Amino acid sequence: MSLTMTVPNHIPVLLKEAIQALQVQPQRNYVDATVGLGGHAAAILGQAPQVRLLGIDVDPEAIKIAQTRLAKFGDSVILINDNFTNLLTLCQRYNFSPVHGILFDLGVSSLQLDTAERGFSFQHDAPLDMRFSSSQELTAAVLINTLPESELAKLIQKYGQERYSRQIAREIVRHRPVNTTGRLARIVEQIYGSRRGKIHPATKTFLALRLFVNCELENLAIALKQTISLLAPKDRLVVISYHSLEDRIVKDFTKQESKGCLCPPEALVCQCHHVPTLKLISKKVITPSFAEAAFNPRSRSARLRIAERL
Ligand SMILES: C[S@@+](CC[C@H](N)C(=O)[O-])C[C@H]1O[C@@H](n2cnc3c(N)ncnc32)[C@H](O)[C@@H]1O
Repeated sequence: MSLTMTVPNHIPVLLKEAIQALQVQPQRNYVDATVGLGGHAAAILGQAPQVRLLGIDVDPEAIKIAQTRLAKFGDSVILINDNFTNLLTLCQRYNFSPVHGILFDLGVSSLQLDTAERGFSFQHDAPLDMRFSSSQELTAAVLINTLPESELAKLIQKYGQERYSRQIAREIVRHRPVNTTGRLARIVEQIYGSRRGKIHPATKTFLALRLFVNCELENLAIALKQTISLLAPKDRLVVISYHSLEDRIVKDFTKQESKGCLCPPEALVCQCHHVPTLKLISKKVITPSFAEAAFNPRSRSARLRIAERL
């Protein structure tokens, strides 16, 4: 499929805060696990002399743009089209060691949202795709046209936290095949009727399908675990998430890794022998300033967390 790309104008979210959190220093190595269009990566590379960066993105289109954007940094950049679930293997394969900081800026880029044919957005009418990479098999259309109604309702409830999940699933099944973003958006709009709030009624359903199609929550949990063995003491893990389910995974992971014993309170003697590996730097999440949220509405839901390797 040839993609009609609108000019990708992705404004990196919480840029100053993320760069500060990483404490970028000369001659150090950083991983951008979601390099996207290279916005954060360019700032990391430009922050100090002789910084090296390994950038990963599962979306081949994003990698092409990042390559162009980061070309001026020459050999200091390694860009890889892969899933960040392979973080550890990729760093080993490219001899990228030691790693002094890792950034995750989760979710979708403006390239993905604004390219109608990618099927991520109800703002454009297009085939329901939602895959980060066309090498993945499952599209959102296949998902909603094949899942049994009860499974579909569970999925929309679990990943979208959508209170009308059962009604939405029922109507989807009644209108099958539902193959386009526009058709799905209209189905959800009709269920909401006049109960519409500030956000578009289809937001949660679209989010649920996207999270499921790309295994986003599961992949995040897998990748976070790998950061521990990559980082050395005092090095930083920085994560920007965009919704509560993602942020919960980051919060729980960093909190758990910052604790000693994880045995249940009733255990008299520690059985787990868990050793803390992280120190929480930001106990409270960092959110965009009023000015950033006004300038870049897509940043509004962003939440940044920082942890330091012990
Ligand atoms: C918000 S964008 C990153 C934007 C980037 N920080 C910038 O400034 O241009 C998120 C990116 O993460 C990528 N992504 C999401 N899940 C991924 C995964 N499991 N592995 C690798 N990349 C992933 C998406 O393809 C998307 O390009």
